[in-house]
Amino acid sequence: MQVIETVAEMHAVRASMTGPVAVVPTLGGLHAGHEALIHAARKRAGTVVTTLFLNPTQFGQNEDLARYPANRERDLEIMRKAGVDAVFVPSVEEMYPPDDHFAVDPGPIADVLEGEHRPGHMRAVATVVAKLFNATRPDLAYFGEKDGQQLEVVTRMSRDLRFGIEIVPVPTVRDERELALSSRLAYLTDKERAAAEVVYRALCAARDHWDDGERSNVELENIMKSVIASESMATLGYAVVVDPDTFERHAETNITSGAWALIAVTIGTTRLIDNLRLN
Ligand code: PAF
Repeated sequence: MQVIETVAEMHAVRASMTGPVAVVPTLGGLHAGHEALIHAARKRAGTVVTTLFLNPTQFGQNEDLARYPANRERDLEIMRKAGVDAVFVPSVEEMYPPDDHFAVDPGPIADVLEGEHRPGHMRAVATVVAKLFNATRPDLAYFGEKDGQQLEVVTRMSRDLRFGIEIVPVPTVRDERELALSSRLAYLTDKERAAAEVVYRALCAARDHWDDGERSNVELENIMKSVIASESMATLGYAVVVDPDTFERHAETNITSGAWALIAVTIGTTRLIDNLRLN
């Protein structure tokens, strides 16, 4: 596995790659969810490139940048074992030179849900992903469905800015308790982990009611909220049903199209997000 630290070197290595190239961008703190992205990429692309960059701009001032569980040697070892061909590991200065001012504006989708709770986050993600795409120049890019809004932002960016990169969603990987794998699970105590199970329970409750014919957005959201409320350690951020095409909160009181349920909760000091397609 080649370890590449500069954009110039990445471009030179990329020029020597033939056939479809897939990229799997990561912040580090790798887990089985990242491995699933790499394996999915491997199935379609002859060459798999990962990126390992703990992007400081997408963390808010009071967020967990300082304690984020990234570990360069461990993360590189996981990538190596998963059969990655090359990893792009730039420094902060390489990604953000001192006179760097440009950014990608994702539009209204950046202002809701995660964007509302984490101002500037979606813009920072879109900007760094654009830079990572420009450095690695992939044909395909793999993102987890767990970060549903991020997936939507990146998909729209590639479409609207005509990047010509196919964004491939990969299903969420869950642990034995059905917790959606996330680097942030490392922050949870055993008790908090048990409490976090409420998130998937709430999503499943919405799905069960959907399967039984419930189509009221308000009802489906209330079902999720009441399950979350049953866990005293969980503080609700949001529990919403959005239209998967517009990513807007379902305005229909009687949904006739598709639906995507999304939840954010805080357990202790850890914010968790998860989602489930209802159809
Ligand atoms: O989901 C992540 O790991 C990050 O947001 C990403 C896409 C690597 C951008 O820093």
